[in-house]
Amino acid sequence: MSTLEIPPPPRRPARARIARALFERSVAGLERLEVIAPDGRPLRRQPGAPRMEIRSDAFFHRLAASGKIGFGEAYVAAEWAADDLAGVLSAFAERLSHLVPRPLQRLRRIYEPLQPRVERNTPAGARANIARHYDLSNDLFAAFLDETMTYSCAVFEPGDSLADAQRRKYDAICDLAGVGEGDHVLEIGTGWGGMAMHAAATRGCRVTSITISREQKQLAEQRVRAAGLERRVEILLCDYRQLYGRFDKIVSIEMFEAVGEEYWPEYFAVCDRLLAPGGRMALQTITMPDDRYRASRRSYTWVHKYIFPGGLIPSERAIARALERGSRLRVSSATEIGHHYPATLRAWRERFLARFDEVRGLGFDETFRRTWEYYLASCEAGFRHGAIGDVQLMLERR
Ligand SMILES: C[S@@+](CC[C@H](N)C(=O)[O-])C[C@H]1O[C@@H](n2cnc3c(N)ncnc32)[C@H](O)[C@@H]1O
Repeated sequence: MSTLEIPPPPRRPARARIARALFERSVAGLERLEVIAPDGRPLRRQPGAPRMEIRSDAFFHRLAASGKIGFGEAYVAAEWAADDLAGVLSAFAERLSHLVPRPLQRLRRIYEPLQPRVERNTPAGARANIARHYDLSNDLFAAFLDETMTYSCAVFEPGDSLADAQRRKYDAICDLAGVGEGDHVLEIGTGWGGMAMHAAATRGCRVTSITISREQKQLAEQRVRAAGLERRVEILLCDYRQLYGRFDKIVSIEMFEAVGEEYWPEYFAVCDRLLAPGGRMALQTITMPDDRYRASRRSYTWVHKYIFPGGLIPSERAIARALERGSRLRVSSATEIGHHYPATLRAWRERFLARFDEVRGLGFDETFRRTWEYYLASCEAGFRHGAIGDVQLMLERR
């Protein structure tokens, strides 16, 4: 089932030598990292720190050919290994902007790949992008998510299981939107129905929830029926741009990252059109600081190539600008919850690795295992260092 393949890197010895020199210079400045060269020599010695072991010179060829994308590809191709992958990636995340020397950073536009046009989030493009991730297999996601099947940042209190923390997050989102008895709530981005079911069961509301993943719709509907909530929760296979109606409240959890910058004002215009007078919206989204967002908004990264085609993480300022351009909605409160993401991601990664034999039985191979291990660990590293955050916003009409 997994069709991922990492071909060998192009061999250009002179460039690989330059890449190696730049890499050695960068790691010399990193804190809490031990790095071992392919010949077993330490490039940076720091006993007790997370250890990166470069196993093949192919690593430097990949760095030379495709920079940070090559760094991830080399992990997947087993050209380097780590005793604590998230720890190693955290050490790099800390100095992300210094890894590439300044003069080369200015030339980034020339040498960095751009998003392929087919990955733009037109309605057809969005369907294809979402299918590549969410239609992989419901059983794959069930293997590593908790029983609520929630695929977004949880909010932990001491003693919480992952499922408790996901329900706590759902409650916070319901409170933010002011969801109450008798409300008709729109959810944009169903996942597998966890939020819709929780809101209907605990708040006495009706929920219409939309997704553009066929697999998700099928399983979410099954779960709604199994919970006896089919009269309160409907799941539609529908792009947000194609929805009509009037809703008392809107909630959307970590779906905005799939919208794409060119569609942000339209997304908010749609929310404004669908929201009843006096209604409120709760939006949870991953964010990054505005300077990083501006520097990287056109970058095509490893995560785009292998995990989330068409994805783009906004900054809170960029969200505020898009709200102003597309709607009468404005941010009336913001709660940062990104510090809960490392624990969420770690729980997913531990479950994914522990249950990989089952996942292998679904048809996913070793390349897939390393790809998803790298994905979950690199996100954890990003959140640990505040390179990315996660925010719950309350949106109201001015
Ligand atoms: C990261 S998942 C989050 C799911 C869920 N909210 C949760 O917290 O578990 C993103 C969701 O957004 C949905 N989505 C992405 N693009 C969409 C679009 N254009 N229209 C409607 N739903 C979309 C996906 O199908 C998926 O269900």
